[in-house]
Amino acid sequence: SAAEKGGHDYFMLKEIEEQPEALANTLRGHFDSGRIVLDEQRLSDQDLRDVDKVFVVACGTAYHSGLIAKYAIEHWTRLPVEVELASEFRYRDPVLDRDTLVVAISQSGETADTLEAVRHARGQKARVLAICNTNGAQIPRESDAVLYTHAGPEVGVAATKTFTAQIAANYLVGLALAQARGTKYPDEVAREFAELEAMPAAVHKVLSTVEQVRSLGRELADSKAVLFLGRHVGFPVALEGALKLKELAYMHAEGFAAGELKHGPIALIESGLPVVVVMPSPKGRAVLHAKLVSNISEIQARGARTIVIAEEGDDTVRPFADELVEVPAVPTLLQPLVSSVPLQVLAAEIARARGYDVDKPRNLAKSVTVE
Ligand code: AGP
Repeated sequence: SAAEKGGHDYFMLKEIEEQPEALANTLRGHFDSGRIVLDEQRLSDQDLRDVDKVFVVACGTAYHSGLIAKYAIEHWTRLPVEVELASEFRYRDPVLDRDTLVVAISQSGETADTLEAVRHARGQKARVLAICNTNGAQIPRESDAVLYTHAGPEVGVAATKTFTAQIAANYLVGLALAQARGTKYPDEVAREFAELEAMPAAVHKVLSTVEQVRSLGRELADSKAVLFLGRHVGFPVALEGALKLKELAYMHAEGFAAGELKHGPIALIESGLPVVVVMPSPKGRAVLHAKLVSNISEIQARGARTIVIAEEGDDTVRPFADELVEVPAVPTLLQPLVSSVPLQVLAAEIARARGYDVDKPRNLAKSVTVE
C-alpha cells in the first residue's frame, strides 16, 4: 500500500529517503568517548593488531562499498587491502593465512557467491568478519565475527540504504583497525572519525536536491547510454551509479575511472551522450579536481552532455557542467555517502519515466542464493 511505501509509489524511493536514519542506526552505539567500539564483533584489539592483510569479498553493490573501503582502510592503517568479487575469489588461489582478515559484505547474508568465499577463507584459516543487514543470516552464522548494518528491511531489489550503511560499517572497521594498530595520520583520522557522526545530517541535506535530479532523470529517459566518471572514491561511486541504471532502467551504462578516459573510453563520447561526473573536493583533492575539470572540458568539447555532482561552492567546475548537482562539503573519504544519493535518484527516475517497476526489475532477485 501507499502507506507502507511512505507515500511513494515504490519502496525504493522510500528507502532512498530513509538513508539518514539507516546511517544513524548503523553508527549508533559504536562511538564511546572518542573510541570506536565494534561491540558486535568477536575480534579483540590483539586480533586486529595481528592482521597483516585485508581481503574484502562481496558482490554487486556490496562489492562497490568494498572498493570504497579500500581507499579508507589502506590510508588509515597502511594495511594492504584487496577487494574481490566473491564469485572470483575462491576460483583463483588467494593467499590467505591466520593473519588475514576477510571482510565479507552482504546485505542479505545469503548470497551464495559470498558464502562460498567465506567458507573458502575459513578453510584457509583466515579470520572472517561479516558485514550484514540481516540478523542471523547464513554468512554471519559462518563467520568469526559480525558487524550489523542497521538499515532496516530493504524491499526494493536495488540496494540503496543498505549500500550507504555498508560504507559506514566499513569505515567503522577501518577506524577500529586504525585505533588498535595506530595510524600515520592521527589528525586526519580524528577528523574523519568526528565527521562520520555528522553524515546522517549531510545525507539529509542531499535529499533536498532530489527534485532537480528527478527532472533531469525524466529528460534523460530516452538516452541510449549513460557514462559515469569518477576518481579516487568517486570511481566506485561511478561504478555503482552505472549498476543502478543498468538494473533499473535497462539502459547501457558504464562507470570509468576518469584517468582511463584517454586510454579508450573517450572514443565513446559523441554529441548528446550524457556523462555523469563525480567530482572530488576542490580543496580536499585539488590535484585530482583539476584533472577532472580538464576531462570534463574535453568531453564537453566533443559534444557530451555533462552532469556534474560537485561540492557546494565548487565554482571552477560550473562552466563545464551542463547540469550541476551540488552536495555538501565533507571529508574526501566520506564523500561517497553524499555523492551516491543523487545517482540512486537518477536511476530510479529514469526507470520510472521508461515505465518500469523500480522495486522489481526484470531478471533479478533480491538475494542470489545460487552460484
Ligand atoms: C544491488 O542493487 C543488486 N541488486 C545486487 O548487486 C546486490 O548488491 C548483490 O547481489 C549482493 O547482495 P548481498 O548484499 O545481499 O550479498
